[in-house]
Amino acid sequence: MGRVVVLRWGHRPERDRRLTSHIALTARALGADGMILTDIKDENLKKTVEKVVDLWGGPFFLEMGVPWKEAVKNWRAKDGIVVHLTAYGENIQTSDVMDRIKATGKDVLVIVGSQKVPREFFSKKVSDFNVAVGNQPHSECASLAVFLDRYFEGKELTKNFENAKLKIIPSSRGKKVVKV
Ligand SMILES: C[S@@+](CC[C@H](N)C(=O)[O-])C[C@H]1O[C@@H](n2cnc3c(N)ncnc32)[C@H](O)[C@@H]1O
Repeated sequence: MGRVVVLRWGHRPERDRRLTSHIALTARALGADGMILTDIKDENLKKTVEKVVDLWGGPFFLEMGVPWKEAVKNWRAKDGIVVHLTAYGENIQTSDVMDRIKATGKDVLVIVGSQKVPREFFSKKVSDFNVAVGNQPHSECASLAVFLDRYFEGKELTKNFENAKLKIIPSSRGKKVVKV
């Protein structure tokens, strides 16, 4: 099974920081190796992600500022495939799109947008697959979570994070956290 990296497009620091940090945290917690924030750098976002990785473990990388076209080009040059998450795509439930993605066995770059994405994202030049988590518009964070869970088939939820300082002990009530 290929590794997964998330490409976050369209981040506007003044209004998207919380949502973009949630995308990074979701990506990390649900099995992605890292996130590329394209076209812009956001040092506050970087601090948030680094703090979480420092406390709760990794590996998880955050790359920032690379133009989206370059990020896609670099990924493809390394023989990875590109999945664009969009409400207009092939339905993850009613089509066989996940089977076709998994059958490639290749590393996956998952693009999530914010405001209206460039039309090129839908084209063969950019995306190998356009995947809809249901054909209703909702959220980049929600669609990413469902995509990752279907891709990793739930196994990501028991992933062991390396070099964590803290670990949660699951319990039926209360909060059990141990220092590792
Ligand atoms: C809040 S939506 C805005 C989309 C924008 N209005 C448009 O028409 O492109 C932001 C991002 O969430 C993701 N998204 C929203 N609904 C989705 C769905 N049903 N399936 C997959 N991705 C979705 C897409 O990545 C999209 O770019």
